[in-house]
Amino acid sequence: KDFMIEEDYDVIILGTGIAGLFTALNIDHRFRVLLVTKTTMGINNSSLAQGGIATSKDAKIHYEDTIHAGVNHNNKEAVEILTTESEEAIEKLMGYGVNFDRDEKGNLLYTREGGHKQQNILHVKDETGKEISNTLVKAVMSRENIVIKEDTFILDVLTSQEAVKGVMALNPNGEYSVFTGKAVIIVTGGVGQLYGKTTNEKVTTADGIAMAYRAGAKVKDMEFIQFHPTAFYEPNSQQRFLISEAVRGEGAILRNVDGEAFMEKYHEMKDLAPRDIVARALFKEMTKSNSDHVYLDITHLEKDYVKNRFPMIYSKCMSLGIDMTKDWIPVAPAEHYIMGGISTDLYGRTNIKNLYACGECACTGVHGANRLASNSLLEGTVFANRVARDINMNLVDSFDGPSHIGNGMETVDSYTKLSIKTNKNQSKIKHQSIYLNLSQIEKQLKETMNEYVSIVRTKSGLMAAHIITYRILEELSKNSQDNIRYYELINMVTVARLIIKAAYRREASLGAHFLNEEMENKEGIVC
Ligand code: SIN
Repeated sequence: KDFMIEEDYDVIILGTGIAGLFTALNIDHRFRVLLVTKTTMGINNSSLAQGGIATSKDAKIHYEDTIHAGVNHNNKEAVEILTTESEEAIEKLMGYGVNFDRDEKGNLLYTREGGHKQQNILHVKDETGKEISNTLVKAVMSRENIVIKEDTFILDVLTSQEAVKGVMALNPNGEYSVFTGKAVIIVTGGVGQLYGKTTNEKVTTADGIAMAYRAGAKVKDMEFIQFHPTAFYEPNSQQRFLISEAVRGEGAILRNVDGEAFMEKYHEMKDLAPRDIVARALFKEMTKSNSDHVYLDITHLEKDYVKNRFPMIYSKCMSLGIDMTKDWIPVAPAEHYIMGGISTDLYGRTNIKNLYACGECACTGVHGANRLASNSLLEGTVFANRVARDINMNLVDSFDGPSHIGNGMETVDSYTKLSIKTNKNQSKIKHQSIYLNLSQIEKQLKETMNEYVSIVRTKSGLMAAHIITYRILEELSKNSQDNIRYYELINMVTVARLIIKAAYRREASLGAHFLNEEMENKEGIVC
């Protein structure tokens, strides 16, 4: 197939979660922005964030809580920025029209979540992410300098002479396009689909981290995967419905299958301990009782208060046969967030010139080894603000209309990585290919990650995962296909291997990376 330079922009943004939308809105109106999603606007992980957005009502306490939850592995400068620039970011969100909950006098209402010493979290009932996302989508749609492309899968970022030049895209009809730009921002979110059980959207196949890595970007802290303790327990469902930590913030208690409220055995903050500690406590309780879930109990609160404060969770639980005002909710941990990602500085800059990353797929180090609850939406705004500021500064000097990268694709080095293999040599590869059962391969990958790269890990398990994923990648590479599902799977295995290798290299437990050997030694518990 021929590649054509089809369209030229100043700024290309890959992803339409909060970080992507917020960046787009803060790019100077004079610059032409392309905003790309592989599905449709509004389908993103940010929309699933229920509990709220952390603020820095007291910046010192928020700073301390963030570092305490992150087990002191955080980049302190990044935390300083998060907590001192949060007010500006929240003001901007309200300026776009986000209506956080208020009391009858009009004062903002705050709630609490795990790891927070104070009520510090703004919310819109139990659909904060959705309200923010919908509001920003509307704002983006009204901007003339922003072009939106839906159903557009990005194969790779294109680089030449160690600078980014654009991206190569594939649409569902099998048509390829090249979009060039002066800056590319990866804001593709998380990696939930690598795991069998996740609270994440189906779109989270780690595409952004994988394409950045192929282009030569550095990644960091990949071993730190956060498991949310309270996802609704449905044995046969991969997509787990989140029961927000704000439910515990409002007083809900975790109970094991014998009805015992167990969190006081594990941490002085009990049910509101940092997330890694709560997830591990659940793991231990479930292991001890040979059960695959525990319960969340909020039945002691007034019925109307619960229904009004958590309307979406209430109605979803009802549809699953649980009345949370009367019944304990069955819950179990599920993959929720990656603390690591594409390594960036404090303006979202990667080691590749003009390639930026922001939000969950990026790693400034702000979250350390375990993210503090509700810091993700905040990170997605504070750092998006900085990315946009940096790009505006750089582009303003060069403002003379859209850019051109020169004599076409022959100047671009890196598009080879995924795409050339599947196109230049296409006929040869097709001839050699054997039938690949992609669903079966995906299942094997998820089972491997669940089994060996989860809340509690062992060196031997990580080695097993390394071997299995090596074989999967080898099989995929030998039998190349030319469809989006195949490319997603390549991205998933690529990033799974980055996680496994990073976990294997980290010798001691830290935050969300927990080695079983230590659990046995330190705590005398065999899992
Ligand atoms: C939740 O509402 O429990 C999720 C919020 C977060 O991931 O920080």
